[in-house]
Amino acid sequence: MDRGWKGRLVLVTGAGGFIGSHLTETLLREGARVRAFLRYTSRNRQGLLSEIPLPSRENLELYFGDLRDQESVKGAFPDVEAVFHLGALIGVPYSFLHPREVMENNTLSTMNILSAALEHKTSRVVVTSSSEVYGSAQRLPMDENHPLHPQSPYAASKVACDALALSYFHSFNLPVTVLRPFNTYGPRQSLRAVIPTVIVQALRGEPLRLGSLSPRRDFTFVEDTVRGFIDSSLSPRVLGKAVVLGNGESHSVGEVVELVQELVGRTLEVTTEERRIRPGTSEVTELLAGASLAGELLGWTPKVDLREGLGRTVQWMERHLREIPGEDYGI
Ligand SMILES: NC(=O)c1ccc[n+]([C@@H]2O[C@H](COP(=O)([O-])OP(=O)(O)OC[C@H]3O[C@@H](n4cnc5c(N)ncnc54)[C@H](O)[C@@H]3O)[C@@H](O)[C@H]2O)c1
Repeated sequence: MDRGWKGRLVLVTGAGGFIGSHLTETLLREGARVRAFLRYTSRNRQGLLSEIPLPSRENLELYFGDLRDQESVKGAFPDVEAVFHLGALIGVPYSFLHPREVMENNTLSTMNILSAALEHKTSRVVVTSSSEVYGSAQRLPMDENHPLHPQSPYAASKVACDALALSYFHSFNLPVTVLRPFNTYGPRQSLRAVIPTVIVQALRGEPLRLGSLSPRRDFTFVEDTVRGFIDSSLSPRVLGKAVVLGNGESHSVGEVVELVQELVGRTLEVTTEERRIRPGTSEVTELLAGASLAGELLGWTPKVDLREGLGRTVQWMERHLREIPGEDYGI
């Protein structure tokens, strides 16, 4: 961080989650003070934050609460100069089962963040949207102007959050940026996502039980996504904008399977499981990012290609295989 957040206090919601833990780790390494918003449990679990290897936790403050609760959220804002809002219920299949919960959780949380930021005159707000807001590609690559076409309740909740955030920029001049990351992967990701599922099954030498092999995704390594978050929070050029973050290359699930097999040195039988396939018209067949705006305005370009990113994820999963639960399918 050149001028950066060094020595300054930032709030990260969803800090115990996959991307949030990597973002927190990078911010701390670069000298920021981080208040990590974590969902309260009676065990005060820190989620994936407990896994970040840091020489010191001096600059990390844990804050427990629920993002749906306005008082909890307000209480996290004093002295905060920037907020990275990543907390959300993120499972697409889960959103088919519990659409109301996902909608309420994600929109109410975002609403609370925006109104607290306004009240506290927070100088930067980064809100996390998703490439899922676009649905299946109507044209490729998919940039910020691609039509919004949510194909799941989760995607619809993100469209709502996205619009709410931008409305706070237009209505109240709140310094907001909305980020639309494409599929992010890397160490610590849960088995909800396809890449860790493939890797864990391959490392265990099991037949690969997967959903459809044909959908194509733009897979972005978590370090690149995190850099996009930090770059966005530091540039005035992306205020009031939605910005796509993605590699600009799409790969099918089948291609991922082949690469993982090469990396673990095993060829495995692949079977398709019905329960892992999305309902008919909600399947998103291809996502491919057009991230030239992030390049132009932020100088952001992804650095880690799929083979390298998968290799680093395989290495991490190999080291943590014993701690990963036996059940390999989560929603
Ligand atoms: N992983 C991806 O590929 C991807 C792609 C695009 C967008 N995103 C977005 O990035 C963000 C982070 O995703 P992730 O993959 O790290 O997910 P994750 O599930 O690992 O992390 C989300 C975190 O939010 C927390 N959370 C949810 N509701 C909360 C509440 N009411 N109060 C407090 N905490 C709450 C969860 O406990 C969890 O720790 C999400 O907003 C997601 O929609 C992720």
